[in-house]
Amino acid sequence: MRKQFEGSDTDAVSSLSLDIAAGSIVALIGPSGCGKTTTLRMINRLIEPTSGRLEINGRDVIQEPVTELRRGIGYVIQQGGLFPHRTVAQNIATVPRTLGWEKGRVIDRVAELAELVGLESEMLDRYPDELSGGQQQRIGVARALAADPPVLLMDEPFGAVDPIVRSRLQDELLSLQQQLHKTIVFVTHDLEEALKLGDRIALLNIGGVLEQYATPDELLRSPANDFVEEFVGDDRGMKRLALRMVSQLAYDRGPVVDIGIPITEAAKAADAHGTDWLGVLRGDAFAGWVRVDDLRNGDALADVPRVRPAAQVTPASTLLSAMELIMTSRTSVAVIDDDGRFGGVVNLDSIRKNLSSEDDS
Ligand SMILES: Nc1ncnc2c1ncn2[C@@H]1O[C@H](COP(=O)(O)OP(=O)(O)OP(=O)(O)O)[C@@H](O)[C@H]1O
Ligand SMILES: [Mg+2]
Repeated sequence: MRKQFEGSDTDAVSSLSLDIAAGSIVALIGPSGCGKTTTLRMINRLIEPTSGRLEINGRDVIQEPVTELRRGIGYVIQQGGLFPHRTVAQNIATVPRTLGWEKGRVIDRVAELAELVGLESEMLDRYPDELSGGQQQRIGVARALAADPPVLLMDEPFGAVDPIVRSRLQDELLSLQQQLHKTIVFVTHDLEEALKLGDRIALLNIGGVLEQYATPDELLRSPANDFVEEFVGDDRGMKRLALRMVSQLAYDRGPVVDIGIPITEAAKAADAHGTDWLGVLRGDAFAGWVRVDDLRNGDALADVPRVRPAAQVTPASTLLSAMELIMTSRTSVAVIDDDGRFGGVVNLDSIRKNLSSEDDS
């Protein structure tokens, strides 16, 4: 698709071609003025492309009536874009009412959506300016979802809220998406947000030039050119760590022994691993670390003082948090699941091995 605005002698968006998989989330990102909003608005034809094709499910929708197209596309406008003189309920009901839904059905749908996006029902009669920024954003999302469109466009949906609310709204969107499987295109300025939410990221340059279209991992692992490399930053290796979980590692059992073994055996195991600390297990459960030097001071392993250091992660922890522990703790980092079962130890080696593999899951 291409867009040249009237009176301008350059393209706001030049021959941009994107293939977006149904049910996936694509993040449009790039410097200010690069054509993100223009691209988004060409998808629902709030801006008519100067030339090009727009296909949804293999259908060329440029020829279709625009109302027909928009029925299938929800649009979350920058900063919520709510109607200030309408109540929350009326805002959410905008599209169903235009579609002429019967009153009872509209009311039911509004209640359902409020619950879906986590708005309390007492807020439905308020006006947008009587709500927090985060609540307004949720209403914007509820309004866009009202007629259950398969496609959702979002223009900096979480731009106007503080980092904590922002992160919560992002999590909510991800869990919503697990239930709804929409095809979502969203614009953001925030690389972290694009990496967290996007199945793929389209990085645009001024003039709507597509510099790279790739999964978050791919974008960080192999930037296509200098522009991309600079955009993702020189800590891109660390950023990749934040995208991966400990459960994806091939970790080994590490220096651990069962609490029931003779202390001489424990000392041998420590020797074999060449470590200062030995993990002690009681059955499946992790019972703590003992200092190898202390092994001399007891008859039984159970009598040796144990510490339960903070150096543990769960399978759902990110590799970034595991890395932080590796750098700051004296012992190895143990993987312990929510039921207290020991899974193995994480070390630099296992993380390095993991990073050298591609991950497009
Ligand atoms: N209606 C318009 N008429 C003329 N030029 C426009 C119009 N809308 C946008 N532009 C120009 O097109 C280019 C792309 O604008 P667009 O709003 O798509 O950028 P953006 O990537 O969304 O930027 P931002 O991150 O600041 O929101 C800019 O140079 C802008 O000035
Ligand atoms: Mg914009």
